Amino acid sequence: MNFKTILFSVLFISVPITISTAQEVPILKTSLVGNNIAEFIPKGFDKNKTPSLILVSEPKSKGKLPSDWSLIPEFALKNEKASAVLHLNGDISLYGGGEVTGPLLRNGQSIKLWNTDTGAYSVEGGKRLYQTHPWVMGVRKDGSAFGIIFDSTWKAELITNSNQIIYNSEGALFRVYIIDRKSPQEVIKGLSELTGTIKLPPRWALGYHQCRFSYDSEKRVMEIADNFRERKIPCDVIWMDIDYMQGYRVFTFDSIRFRNPKTLNDNLHKKGFRAVYMIDPGVKVDREYSVYNSGTQNDVWVKKNNGEEYHGKVWPGDCAFPDFTSPKTRNWWGGLYKDFLNTGIDGVWNDMNEPAVNDNDFPEDKRLGTMPYDTPHKGGDNLPQGSHLLYHNAYGRLMVEASYNGILKTNPDKRPFLLTRSNLLGGQRYAATWTGDNYAGWDHLKLSVPMSLTLGLSGQPFNGPDIGGFLGNTDGDLWANWLGFGAFMPFARGHACAGTNDKEPWAYGTEIEKSSRIALERRYRLLPYLYTLFYESSQTGLPVMAPVFFADVQDARLRSEEQAFLLGENLLVVPAFAKDPILPSGIWEELSLVEGDKQDKYQAKLSIKGGSIIPAGKIIQNAGENSFDPLSLLVCLDKSGNAKGELYVDSGDGFGFQKGDFALLTFSAEKKKDTVVIKTAVNQGKRNVSQEIKAINVQLFLDGKIYTAAGTLKDGITITLK
Ligand code: NOJ
Repeated sequence: MNFKTILFSVLFISVPITISTAQEVPILKTSLVGNNIAEFIPKGFDKNKTPSLILVSEPKSKGKLPSDWSLIPEFALKNEKASAVLHLNGDISLYGGGEVTGPLLRNGQSIKLWNTDTGAYSVEGGKRLYQTHPWVMGVRKDGSAFGIIFDSTWKAELITNSNQIIYNSEGALFRVYIIDRKSPQEVIKGLSELTGTIKLPPRWALGYHQCRFSYDSEKRVMEIADNFRERKIPCDVIWMDIDYMQGYRVFTFDSIRFRNPKTLNDNLHKKGFRAVYMIDPGVKVDREYSVYNSGTQNDVWVKKNNGEEYHGKVWPGDCAFPDFTSPKTRNWWGGLYKDFLNTGIDGVWNDMNEPAVNDNDFPEDKRLGTMPYDTPHKGGDNLPQGSHLLYHNAYGRLMVEASYNGILKTNPDKRPFLLTRSNLLGGQRYAATWTGDNYAGWDHLKLSVPMSLTLGLSGQPFNGPDIGGFLGNTDGDLWANWLGFGAFMPFARGHACAGTNDKEPWAYGTEIEKSSRIALERRYRLLPYLYTLFYESSQTGLPVMAPVFFADVQDARLRSEEQAFLLGENLLVVPAFAKDPILPSGIWEELSLVEGDKQDKYQAKLSIKGGSIIPAGKIIQNAGENSFDPLSLLVCLDKSGNAKGELYVDSGDGFGFQKGDFALLTFSAEKKKDTVVIKTAVNQGKRNVSQEIKAINVQLFLDGKIYTAAGTLKDGITITLK
């Protein structure tokens, strides 16, 4: 270490101060570990000090770094804290960082990576949120792009200046991975090659979700469910927040208000709903409580340096926390889901898993609200023993790995649906996410678009905000505006904090109820397209909700557009609040999906891209109903009179699709003189869809006019343009 000692003289007293300067650390090894993916290992890197919790597997060298490779990190150490810097040349648009507030374009931004319960995004001006994504993507003027992973979970800050990307960690040396490819889309694919993709969710998870902290009795839950069905507002899921538990003890049910969870879940199922229940990591310290006793017997708790159990306050008072770094603990935790899920629970919500603890005194900032930095974690298998400073940012990610595996083990024939508040880059492999405790205000409504986009550009496509705003009261205008575009976000859930007004679609009077119905009917019409996008994302890692600049990565005008967004490549969504959005050039035709949608002031404007075919279904009340009776094909031709599109179909749940029980259909349209011929082909899969998709309606959007025709899958359809 290179220490300089400086003596300061203040009046007549000499105060010795020790200042260290950063010491450069040479690169020990570089290699290619994938198609245009480079690995950089600094000298002195030790996996036992900085294990990888981000990568899917240990990368293997596939050759030497080309001599003209332009992006090379510079590593340094200062007071045993490692950092890396990348110098950038030219005009580069920066993105990424995962869950962030502020603009989509990240030039000149900085964030803190220390997962924090930060209601209203108030901590450090929203620079420190619930998740850690040490990831930056840069897009050059010519549309080529690069991405950088700082493979570390140590507490850190990430600074994205236009000429320099700086990663300052508070821990040991780490590896850096750089992907350099011809487009941002290819870079995101590279990210998923290293960190994995989402698993294909069950189809119901793409429906609308209704939540509140809390629907606090079986009766209230059924009232909410019945309202959706009676009012014919599509919905798939009702959520149980913490009040279903017995005194906030996880894996228990309140003996009065949730006496019969099995009956409740059965009743929800009968009406076409699914039930998602919350599970937090903190386990109440209570010697009469089986989960606490079982954890103690199995020695799963985080312990302090003196060997005593670490206790911190959360909802139930003093809690013990599973040490998820230990494989034994993860296995024990996974096992708790068996009896719980056997009551008919369909999905799980892991919350407070930063972990949030309410009673810590931190000299620098009380709101760091978690375990002390030096709290030890056991590790096991590939994970070394380490302090909370190392493992904090991975706590939620390790929890959801344990939860995911436990859920899958209990129900091996169902696709797990898990939502988490805290996570780490790569944690998309286990859970979807939402953007935590936003508030009911226009600034948070607008912020929800770049936040979701940035998560999608950081490997987490399955995300969305609390629609309507969680904290504070919501009025009808805000609600309907938010739902008007929130209905097209990958995860669409309305949620509300305790003590706030009712925030269901019917809570604001008949006009807003009508607008809410239209917004959700539009989402449900698009379910076939949405499900296809999720399938593609589970294969490639590409975002479901993408920034507008994805439509033309060379069009510099689009780089900072953060009001409008794309759903897949073919649908442009312009929220009603958007003022002068910068939209891609080329052919885009406005769509109407539901009667009255174009006239309704709250609905986002939807446009289909020239050259594409979007598969849509009919209006259904939940994702379990048959969408394809008939299947609609929305067609918009490109300049040369052609269009194409895809539809992915499978059983909607389970793993049959992995054995070929799916169909990937491709559609093509071709204009010849006065006719447009639409053909279908089965591209992949063994599923016979002729029973599911009997009739097809085509709507062709051409020069502001709509032409329609009907037919069947096998015969092809011809539209006459007269
Ligand atoms: C904090 C979560 O962010 C919020 O969504 C939830 O309602 C409360 N915890 C209560 O469980």
